[in-house]
Amino acid sequence: MPETDLCRIGVAINEELLAQFDKLIDKRGYTNRSEAFRDLIRNELVKERWDSPNSEVFGTVTLVYDHHVRLLTEKLTSLQHKYHSSIISSTHVHLDHDNCLEVIVVRGKATAVQGLANALIAMKGVKHGRFTGTASGRDLP
Ligand code: NI
Repeated sequence: MPETDLCRIGVAINEELLAQFDKLIDKRGYTNRSEAFRDLIRNELVKERWDSPNSEVFGTVTLVYDHHVRLLTEKLTSLQHKYHSSIISSTHVHLDHDNCLEVIVVRGKATAVQGLANALIAMKGVKHGRFTGTASGRDLP
């Protein structure tokens, strides 16, 4: 971002809160407070988009499951076909003899995408599931 677009603001903050914040951002690898503050703000803006049911959002669903569980692979596949218009891609990794890792990249209206993610993660036999919601980055300075 050009230097002219930057606004400088003063923030009054409790000393102990700032100390904990500095410790946290150091642990996460930030080299300065400003970038950490900007990321916190962006995070809230993305969350806000997820709260508006009609906004277009993106995300990833990560699943770990045992492919031997009866009909699980078939159920996961048919659910993904049902919501094919919300799915951009999926990657399947055979972790070992039994376990599979699947990462599904999703896009669409927030409520539809969240519903699909919940249904995949809640499926019986899925050992671990995580959903990460993000936004396109457009309109996000
Ligand atoms: Ni597999």
